[in-house]
Amino acid sequence: MNILGINAYHGNASAAIVCDGILVAAVEEERFNRVKYAAGFPAQATRYCLKEAGLTLAEVDHVAIPRNPYARLWTKVSYALRMPSFARERAKVLVKFQGIPEALAQAFDADPKKNRAKFHRIEHHQAHLASSFYCSPFECAALLSADGLGDFASTMWGTGSGSRMAIDGAVTFPHSLGLFYSAVTQYLGFLKFGDEYKVMGLAAYGQPEQLEVFRDIVRFESASDGNAFKLGLGYFVHHRTGPEMSWAEADKTPALGKLFSGGMEEKLGPARTPEQTLAQRHRNLAASLQARLEEVYLGMLRKLAERSRLKAVCLAGGVAFNCVANGKIFDATPFEQVYIHPAAGDGGLSVGAAFYVWHQILDKPRSFVMDHAYWGPEYSREEIRSAIDSSGLAQKGCAIAELKEPELMKSAATLIADGKILGWFQGRAEWGPRALGNRSIVADPRRPEMKEILNQRIKHREVFRPFAPSILAEATADYFEKSHPSPFMTLAYGVRPAQREKIPAPTHVDGTGRLQTVTREANPRYHALISAFRDLTGVPVVLNTSFNDNEPIVCRPEEAIECFQRTQMDALVLGDFLITRPAGS
Ligand SMILES: [Fe+2]
Repeated sequence: MNILGINAYHGNASAAIVCDGILVAAVEEERFNRVKYAAGFPAQATRYCLKEAGLTLAEVDHVAIPRNPYARLWTKVSYALRMPSFARERAKVLVKFQGIPEALAQAFDADPKKNRAKFHRIEHHQAHLASSFYCSPFECAALLSADGLGDFASTMWGTGSGSRMAIDGAVTFPHSLGLFYSAVTQYLGFLKFGDEYKVMGLAAYGQPEQLEVFRDIVRFESASDGNAFKLGLGYFVHHRTGPEMSWAEADKTPALGKLFSGGMEEKLGPARTPEQTLAQRHRNLAASLQARLEEVYLGMLRKLAERSRLKAVCLAGGVAFNCVANGKIFDATPFEQVYIHPAAGDGGLSVGAAFYVWHQILDKPRSFVMDHAYWGPEYSREEIRSAIDSSGLAQKGCAIAELKEPELMKSAATLIADGKILGWFQGRAEWGPRALGNRSIVADPRRPEMKEILNQRIKHREVFRPFAPSILAEATADYFEKSHPSPFMTLAYGVRPAQREKIPAPTHVDGTGRLQTVTREANPRYHALISAFRDLTGVPVVLNTSFNDNEPIVCRPEEAIECFQRTQMDALVLGDFLITRPAGS
């Protein structure tokens, strides 16, 4: 039984294929079309997934679409009556969604009339919940999805048991924790889609001195209606102007309309423009925003734990990328185990929708755990060799060597320990927005100056944004104040004070690190690299940042080589090949 999940015409367009209850491949369209958060129809991602599974389109039995335009229809209609622009937007969305079978057939040059697959529309947040619960190792768990908006809801919670999920409640438009975070992110002058994580990094530099105002911006009472929170709507405009994101063109990065109102500026002072220098006031506002998000998010989780009496929780939705809040779950709630889908944002919906069909609709038992994130394209030795040969690197004086694993690990670890910046390209590309040791740039965590060097030479990003540590899983407790696994870099823990000076580069200003715990089982090669670095230095940690420079993470070896050439990376490992620049270049 083959189920194709497709997240189309929505941010982070993606595809996934589940065969007999086992995920075979999953990838976001941005990795192919090189447009960050691309939102059109994921034709290339779908073609890749079927190729990886060895299937033709005719062999797909079910297609799962993680959106149901008919969910909360009456609420939508009532808004549409008040807002003609919103009604027009909804009509366009409906037309696009109804065209998915045709777009799918077109991607394969097939006749849509011959399509024998059954199409399912899965509500946005149920697909988020499914992405986390059905990929988790838990037999029973509490479930929470929180994001900006999907199918007119922003939050949904419930419980999962075996192959079933039960939904207990939802927060609907216009109330949304994701839109709250996005609105203040815009107010602080970060206007691009996906900039929220920048503000989360900035928050560590401030004090939450405006927390009282933020308690008015998001109101969270211990009300009898469970988890409900409400936005103080006077601070926002989205309930008046319409909730939809806009994609200028299908394949372009999505854009979000202005969300905050004059009311927010009246209360907090003038909004910052992107050109304005960041002042302490802005840092304090970011801290206040983060503090209020944590109060509400952790408060919802506490209630969920009390009601469900479960010790495990599965999280998804864009808010579940707030690793700082996630890291506090163990102290602030009764939950003892947490699973966060690696593509917790809308990219993950294709996987969630496919598993929803398998378990919730077809009632099949569980047989899969997503314990690693390597579900994307992989390239053979010959493909890598050919990319190197046609790159002209040898002619430019680069040394190119093909090495056996022990020697490769030792050479790579030595380069890192010597302060070199290493591109590290191995195996299948990661699923989700984090590089987790297959499309990573790796550097020495012991050097405090490494953050600045990386920013100057490669990443060109804001100085206040932290870099992340990858640590051998078995050493987690030695360096961090918590040891619960964080395989997908979705939790931030305090670095033990005595260890902070050992790994200053990926330790954030507040003493935390957004860590990736690396096991031999999940990624033997990355584990071997960090082990080799530990053998040389005594430190079982490397600094890990995504292999890119203001673009989607590299996917093909050619893109890795281009990024290597364009930036001032010192060395590049592609599979078994080690490439180093000529001395003095
Ligand atoms: Fe979502």
